[in-house]
Amino acid sequence: RTAYVNGAYVRQSEAVVSIEDRGYQFADAVYEVWSVFDGRLADLEGHLNRLERSLGELKIATPMPRNSLLVVLNEVVRRNRVREGMVYLQISRGVAPRDHVFPENVRPAMVVTARPVDRDAAAKKALTGIKAKSMPDIRWGRCDIKTVGLLPNVLAKQAAKEDGAGEVIFVDKNGYVTEGGSTNVYMVDADGIILTRDLKANILAGVTRLTLLDMVSDTGLEIRQVAFTLEAAKAASEVFITAATSLVMPIVAIDGHPVGEGKPGPVASALRDSYISHAR
Ligand code: PDD
Repeated sequence: RTAYVNGAYVRQSEAVVSIEDRGYQFADAVYEVWSVFDGRLADLEGHLNRLERSLGELKIATPMPRNSLLVVLNEVVRRNRVREGMVYLQISRGVAPRDHVFPENVRPAMVVTARPVDRDAAAKKALTGIKAKSMPDIRWGRCDIKTVGLLPNVLAKQAAKEDGAGEVIFVDKNGYVTEGGSTNVYMVDADGIILTRDLKANILAGVTRLTLLDMVSDTGLEIRQVAFTLEAAKAASEVFITAATSLVMPIVAIDGHPVGEGKPGPVASALRDSYISHAR
């Protein structure tokens, strides 16, 4: 594998970053994940827009103009010969002697990697769906910024795994679903309307979510950005998640209780197909 690291394409197994990188010491860094279909990055612009927003919110300098960034992303895909896969980009504030406050005259540090994904295995998984575990959302108040500070997500997803579940459903202190451990969460209500949490809750504005919001208008489905409880999700006919990694994935059980008939429903399945057509 080949990685891009601060201006050079290097063998990934030999790639190194500084031990004083602020991403390493303070999680003072942001990231993006793209899915790659047929060698092309899906929702390219959406992820770049969000990246620029994350950098802006943290006052991290943009390491290079958008055009150059595009060249690097595509070059990493090309050098790794990825047709079906994903790209990871991380930008930290930079390298400086450890001190909490922003260092002066620091240059942002940037890393890009790419790897293949087994689309057949993912398609099979989508046919059975995955189980979810609900967990209290103990994260900070700025989950709208895509930072690498993911320890609560890591711990929650590990707990889910130990319970035989593939994703976490985070629930706020009022009992409302916020998002997944690394996904956005949706339910289908009794009227067939899709609900997903509004962005006022400072959840991550998923790029896949944004595309879905655009897409549903063409499908005759209705989607509303509104808070719903974990109880409502458990009683819903369908629950599903979205992300650049899992695309659209049905949730067939929450905390051991089957959702709907305990198998993927028509809405999630149709949206998965539409999303993949869009991405291709
Ligand atoms: N996660 N919510 C959280 C907390 C996420 O980490 C992600 C993405 C999403 C979905 O965003 P998008 O549709 O733009 O991928 C929502 C990435 C894929 C990850 O951490 O691997």
